[in-house]
Amino acid sequence: MIPTLEWLPAGVNFLDQTKLPLEETYVLATDYKQVATVIRDMIVRGAPAIGVSAAMGVAIGIDRSTAATLVELTAEVDVICKTLAETRPTAVNLFWGIDEIRNLYNEMVAAGAAIPEIKAAVVAKSRKMYDEDIDACKQMGRNGAALLPQTGTVLTHCNAGALATCGYGTALGVIRAAVEDGHTIDVFADETRPFLQGARLTAWELMKDNIPTTVLCDNMAASLMRQGRIQAVIVGSDRIAANGDVANKIGTYGVAILAKEHGIPFYVAAPWSTVDMATANGDLIPIEQRSAREVTHSNGKQMTPDGVGIENPAFDVTPAKYVTAIITELGVLRAPYEESIKQMAEQKTLATV
Ligand code: MRU
Repeated sequence: MIPTLEWLPAGVNFLDQTKLPLEETYVLATDYKQVATVIRDMIVRGAPAIGVSAAMGVAIGIDRSTAATLVELTAEVDVICKTLAETRPTAVNLFWGIDEIRNLYNEMVAAGAAIPEIKAAVVAKSRKMYDEDIDACKQMGRNGAALLPQTGTVLTHCNAGALATCGYGTALGVIRAAVEDGHTIDVFADETRPFLQGARLTAWELMKDNIPTTVLCDNMAASLMRQGRIQAVIVGSDRIAANGDVANKIGTYGVAILAKEHGIPFYVAAPWSTVDMATANGDLIPIEQRSAREVTHSNGKQMTPDGVGIENPAFDVTPAKYVTAIITELGVLRAPYEESIKQMAEQKTLATV
């Protein structure tokens, strides 16, 4: 399995995704500040992987603290959570990951637990979240595989694979599950300018699995759809609003419109932790703006004239009306999403009470 991230006795070890596909190197984060840097610099990226990384970041911060009292430790935990929360704004999984550990910490403090006991519990919880993420991806795969064509070509945008999760992937997990079930699938991977998650990462991990993959420049999908060469689109998500609007990598919205125009199903695969019931619709989702340099430079080489204006929003929002179905580990959601999402949230609450 592709080791996206791993809790080790020495710290949290991250496969450096900025170096792929040319180098397979690792970055060991030995404290929470380093975990925050790894997330901000996109050494680890992809919403589910970011969520578990943030949880491990809070856990390592608590575990390595030298605070002698709970009052001191709680003040540190505030700073740790704030530092991690300020890394990337769009993927709601980041905040979910932080909250899962923070809530456990608060509950244990309220129950009168001692510091060593709290440290062991938060580390164990973050490691369990890692395992649960892989299980959720595999369940998403089982839930979504039958939606993909028995034989055909599937387009994906960005990387929603093993590298974007703790393993197996969301959108690529559904593709993997379909292939395991005997479907014959070829993948078109949009290159995904400017960070090239499709060209560098999706192509790298699918080739490792021997799934036939072809990289497309981002402007090629329309023409291929018109020629009947794409049978389905499947992508991941960074945040799904309560009405089913989907935030994902910049460029996803355009692909969704093209799919609708050509009568091609457009699927979104995401764990339930990506659904943000507190955000009513996509207009309210914060969109990360990244540095101009990601656009002006490629492989260290300047591509644009000095001083030109640059836009670099990292994500866009696809309105729910373009989404054929949302595949989660809890089941497949269909329109009207406001209702199907609400219903699933209620079932989830009942199941956890
Ligand atoms: O900026 P990134 O690389 O973190 O963006 C990743 C995406 O947009 C993915 O499609 C999304 O997080 C889903 S990953 C399973």
